[in-house]
Amino acid sequence: MPTHELILLKNMSTPGYTGSLADYERAGGYQALRKVLGKIAPADVTEMVKKSGLRGRGGAGFPTGVKWEFLPKDYQGPRYLCCNADESEPGTFKDRQLMERDPHQMLEGIVITCYAIGAEIGYIYIRGEFVLGAQILERALGEARAAGYLGTNILDTGFNLDVWVHRGAGAYICGEETALLESLEGKRGLPRVKPPFPATHGLYNKPTVVNNVETLANLPHILNRGPEWFASIGSPPRSTGTRIFCVSGHVKRPGNYEVPMGITFRELIFDHAGGMRSDKPLKAIIPGGASAAFFTDQHLEVKLDFESVAQAGSMLGSGGVTVMEEGTSMVWAALRLMEFFYHESCGKCTPCREGSSWLVQTLRRIMAKRGRHEDLDTLTELCKNIVGRTICAFGDAEVAPILSTLQYWRHEYEELIEAAEAAELITPEPALARH
Ligand SMILES: Cc1cc2nc3c(=O)[nH]c(=O)nc-3n(C[C@H](O)[C@H](O)[C@H](O)COP(=O)(O)O)c2cc1C
Repeated sequence: MPTHELILLKNMSTPGYTGSLADYERAGGYQALRKVLGKIAPADVTEMVKKSGLRGRGGAGFPTGVKWEFLPKDYQGPRYLCCNADESEPGTFKDRQLMERDPHQMLEGIVITCYAIGAEIGYIYIRGEFVLGAQILERALGEARAAGYLGTNILDTGFNLDVWVHRGAGAYICGEETALLESLEGKRGLPRVKPPFPATHGLYNKPTVVNNVETLANLPHILNRGPEWFASIGSPPRSTGTRIFCVSGHVKRPGNYEVPMGITFRELIFDHAGGMRSDKPLKAIIPGGASAAFFTDQHLEVKLDFESVAQAGSMLGSGGVTVMEEGTSMVWAALRLMEFFYHESCGKCTPCREGSSWLVQTLRRIMAKRGRHEDLDTLTELCKNIVGRTICAFGDAEVAPILSTLQYWRHEYEELIEAAEAAELITPEPALARH
């Protein structure tokens, strides 16, 4: 059992908790909304969120209240909130649990956010594969409408809001906020050039906020217990609150762990997730979802907060922590991740579309012991020519596993290449089919 207080996973950790409206209200749910609506001015709600230090949990870690403030104040037309429930980053599975097990917590956060930014329509863009999650959210929305937490004149305050679930079709790129907006508009999910940013030109070209499920789920607690309380948890001042880390891979107890930001990788992996599943020592860690550069066993004392992970050369990203034991081939691991990125590249930007294909072909060749020494320079050059040259951060993401495995485990690439040379197996590789 954790020794710290659970915030987001607290209700669902209570035996018998079903996530129904009645259960949520019994646990103190919708009290924050009653405290806020019509009683605290929207600008003051935003101020409280800024003071709490809450930063986005979707990947980029942007300060939430600051993002809300970017919406034009004098704009008279509609504005929107889009809850990003696409959660397609490999190794990440926290939003799913939040939606399926405690949907009203996130919905209360959505109503509070809409009130703060002046939106009367909200969308939950949910990953197509989350069929159960979509059904649970629809039921929760029905309960919230019937109870007067959604609809017209919410809690007799004159505030109107409705929220709709929109199911995606299972494309990783639709988690990127502007591709999400395109998809929501009924178009193919391709990222938009920024600027302009969604804050001014978002859904249907109107001011829009896109926030992640976990980000939004924090809001009822911040408004209930105060920004100072939230800001005192974790690693203030830049990494406040808890985070849900999704631990997977070669550990004894994979799962979602909510911990204050600032504990070390060692504590997360060994104290919470039970340590390595076998006698083999830890070899590698993906610290923040597939887009994050690998860490080694030398990084176990790094703190799980935004700054510490960035300073150590990677990112906290989506909170997906994948652990690999000694004996795992890092070339194979990089290839598996690259196969995913290659499959999911939306094709809009040439460096990413073509580069991902070349990267996969080169890695497959090395893995199949048909590699050449020049391949390592080719991989590095290709990666360098993708970074910073694509419309969205997908390009930077897809090269991270390759560059970091080359940095820490270059000898594994070399060994495979030398095996190829020794066996004189250098033959042309088969053509690559994009499936
Ligand atoms: C390729 C790509 C995929 C992304 N996928 C997700 C996702 O599945 N869920 C998510 O919340 N954010 C995702 N993001 C980040 C979003 O673009 C955006 O920053 C986030 O939803 C903002 O919410 P936040 O400020 O609450 O974190 C992705 C970004 C990129 C570049």
